[in-house]
Amino acid sequence: MWINTINVTHYAQFNALALLLCIHMWNRLVQFETVAIAFIFLAMGCSSIDLGGENDADSLSADAHTYANFNDVRVKHISLDLEVDFDKKMLKGSATLEINNLNNGSLLVLDARKLDIHGVIDDNGDSVAFALGDESPVFGSPLNITIQPETKNVKVYYTTSSDADALQWLDPMQTLGKKHPFLFSQSQAILARTWVPCQDGPGIKFTYDATIKTDPSLIALMSAENGTTKRADGVYTFKMEQPISSYLLALTVGDLSFASTGRNSGVYAEPAMLDKAVWELNAMQSMIDSAETLYGPYAWGRYDVVILPPSFPFGGMENPRLTFATPTIIAGDRSLVALIAHELAHSWSGNLVTNETWNDFWLNEGFTVYFEQRIMEKIFGKPYEDMLTKLGMGDLERTLAELQAEGKAEDTHLYLNLDGRDPDDGLTDVAYEKGRFFLQTAEAIVGRERFDAFLKKYFTENKFKTMDTEGFINYLNTHLLSTDEQNRLNANDWIYGPGLPDNAPTPNSTELDRVETAIAKFNNNRIKAADINTEGYTTHHWLYFLRGLKDVNLEKMKDLDASFQFTKTGNSEIACDWFKHSIEQNYTLAFPAMKEFLINVGRRKFLTPLYTRLAATDQNKQWAKSVYQDARSGYHSVAYNTIDNILK
Ligand code: BES
Ligand code: ZN
Repeated sequence: MWINTINVTHYAQFNALALLLCIHMWNRLVQFETVAIAFIFLAMGCSSIDLGGENDADSLSADAHTYANFNDVRVKHISLDLEVDFDKKMLKGSATLEINNLNNGSLLVLDARKLDIHGVIDDNGDSVAFALGDESPVFGSPLNITIQPETKNVKVYYTTSSDADALQWLDPMQTLGKKHPFLFSQSQAILARTWVPCQDGPGIKFTYDATIKTDPSLIALMSAENGTTKRADGVYTFKMEQPISSYLLALTVGDLSFASTGRNSGVYAEPAMLDKAVWELNAMQSMIDSAETLYGPYAWGRYDVVILPPSFPFGGMENPRLTFATPTIIAGDRSLVALIAHELAHSWSGNLVTNETWNDFWLNEGFTVYFEQRIMEKIFGKPYEDMLTKLGMGDLERTLAELQAEGKAEDTHLYLNLDGRDPDDGLTDVAYEKGRFFLQTAEAIVGRERFDAFLKKYFTENKFKTMDTEGFINYLNTHLLSTDEQNRLNANDWIYGPGLPDNAPTPNSTELDRVETAIAKFNNNRIKAADINTEGYTTHHWLYFLRGLKDVNLEKMKDLDASFQFTKTGNSEIACDWFKHSIEQNYTLAFPAMKEFLINVGRRKFLTPLYTRLAATDQNKQWAKSVYQDARSGYHSVAYNTIDNILK
């Protein structure tokens, strides 16, 4: 392998060279240099008559969120060799990118953000010219690397910045064990470029391998084949042999132990959490089996989940082979495990068939919510699934109303226009819930049997590929719907129109009807909290209850709290909904618990609505700011960037 030819001398030599090159570039107009280099090599590329390159990569749609020239040069494989430095909060080492030079061009453009690039060498170990273009705060910079038509690999030496947005470095005190530091990454949507120089768009798929060196008291895990125990030398090697998109690159390092939950599944968690996690997630293996029955074989070998510290900014992230999850799903009663069904479902919708650009985000999330609920129905039954669906419709209706009110009707379309914006802005319930109800509408038109056969075929025929919205609609019309059915579905309204089309279903749940009756009486002051028959209420009944409360006042808050102890709940979903009311009613008795919640939990879905409500009055905003002063350093960038905006 050519990599072996890069010996120590080479490294030193090229370091010096790179340094010179850097200084040289610094003194010039970087942009000009880049263009000049690009031009020269482009000319060379054009004059070349050798078209013998492997033209095996399909042309991809334009992607406004990456600088990569992926239709000219396609990255096929990445080899990472990184050392984890907890003191400096940095990853240091190299990324070797194997490329497919589709047009024999002379320029490879990667995405990079806050990366310190030390140098780039080619297959022969020779330094090659590179330059970083203008930097945008959200997108970072293009990293322009000169290549030759025959270049097969480029090796980029770099270190990450201590404020790399994907990475969160935790002090021991921010972990459960309090003894060891912790690191995790979150690459979706466009944060992979803050820790790996890569073609950072979901349309580009590559395989990868990695060597990660860390302190031997810690284990390193990736979205790849993982070991289950710590290694005495602290050196971990990884392989991901199925092609993935960059947003699925993931790394975590910490004091984690492993326990099996079945044939090809298991859980990693901090030792003090492991038993609880295994108990909570006992349905994992049957979720995998159910999913396979529904839509075909699981393509990734093992499915494991790692329970991260509470600052993880999302509920879950579907990193292939290893879902990253918030500890807030470990509720003690298994009531929040739909999240695992969701992340597992992404192993088909998202990881296997991937949204081509972030404008097609609903193809990832809408399909996944639909699939998630099918898994939940199979395992926990229809009444359970009905509750999830009805709660989902409630979320969607509130989101649609908010977006309408804010003049953002366009963001209620399934197909988004996120060009020029942070794709994170597209992360609303619309992609998830409107997407799911669209698929449910299609299912209702053709019947479950035909719909399932169609989806199975769709996942099988498109595996390891990408899909855009138009491509999906064509596929749907070709392989499933008759003309009459196409008219009944009216996909155009769903995809390119606002709000919920007329043919949207109205979810029904007998379980929640019971709650509805109770809230109606409580809302009308006909009964007190203690008179409500809450026997058999689960988390989902409570959530529906809290979301249905109207005209609450301070007295009613006290009454509810006295009967149901909401302020003391250990369930994060219930807590969040209760705190929303507490803010609106200025129920200050709940504020100490809320403060603790805001400081301990970094899950953005909870933080955003709470800080937003707090920011609505001067007094609460002051309070929120003082809490935030303590809390901010414990949040991941994804969370604090959002909250900074709310409290500014
Ligand atoms: N892939 C998403 C998380 C995500 C989306 C991160 C966009 C960054 C940008 C993940 O699958 C997800 O949807 N998580 C949800 C849970 C789910 C049950 C709705 C979450 O984190 O709340
Ligand atoms: Zn998802």
